[in-house]
Amino acid sequence: MKRTLVIANWKMNLNTHEASMLLHRYHQHIATHRDIEVVVAPSMLSLQPLSQEIDRHRFRLSAQDGYYKDEGGFTGEVSFAMMRDLVHYSIIGHSARRIYFNETLEVVREKVAAAVRNGIAPIICIGETKQERDSGETKQVIHDQLTTALRNVTSDEIENIVIAYEPVWAISTFDGEPAKPDDMKKALDYIRFQVRELYGERAAADIRVLYGGSVSDQDAAAFIGIEGCDGVLVGAASLNYAKFAGIVDAAYRVARERE
Ligand code: 13P
Repeated sequence: MKRTLVIANWKMNLNTHEASMLLHRYHQHIATHRDIEVVVAPSMLSLQPLSQEIDRHRFRLSAQDGYYKDEGGFTGEVSFAMMRDLVHYSIIGHSARRIYFNETLEVVREKVAAAVRNGIAPIICIGETKQERDSGETKQVIHDQLTTALRNVTSDEIENIVIAYEPVWAISTFDGEPAKPDDMKKALDYIRFQVRELYGERAAADIRVLYGGSVSDQDAAAFIGIEGCDGVLVGAASLNYAKFAGIVDAAYRVARERE
């Protein structure tokens, strides 16, 4: 059975001390459930200390990004090769990277390949901007972002990949508001359809596809409860341990109802 994923993307927030404190609160307040996998993505700076503090039986660590070369003269970058023993996952192609740091489809593709090569499972973020949505380009954007990102991924590797549909217009830091469950379902179905075209029925059924964008403890169950939604990628609400604990509980309630 697929485990529901609940991922905390702390983005560029919290110094190492604050990150430690928040992890401590997670340890105190978040219940452990067999069917739910909870992943914490702190800043690059906090990965090393948190890797020593985190209870690995309960939570997994994720990077928020990484560079696609393994080593060399790339001042300021950190490679997936350097993180291979620290993290289980890495977010790749987040819209903040695409928009603020001009990450192209090809760069995202190289990063996915580098993470896979180093034994790190990519959480590939895709999603259209408001402008693209208004001009009816949602499917085209999803198609282009997904097929390019997966270009070097083999059918043996696809099972470790996670896809997160994060429409830019729904992300809180872009002044967004949550997607309507109906819109979200259409996008998730289309993503699964694309995976089926590329890798077949089995891969499409097994791959985990998540939703992200202004998810709160109030509406998490409505998103996760949609057929084909395997979890959520949470930004702002993950900085509040009580709200995040509420989201994990919501995921558990949905998983239990599904059984
Ligand atoms: P918010 O939950 O703050 O909208 O952020 C979503 C996101 O970008 C997670 O990666």
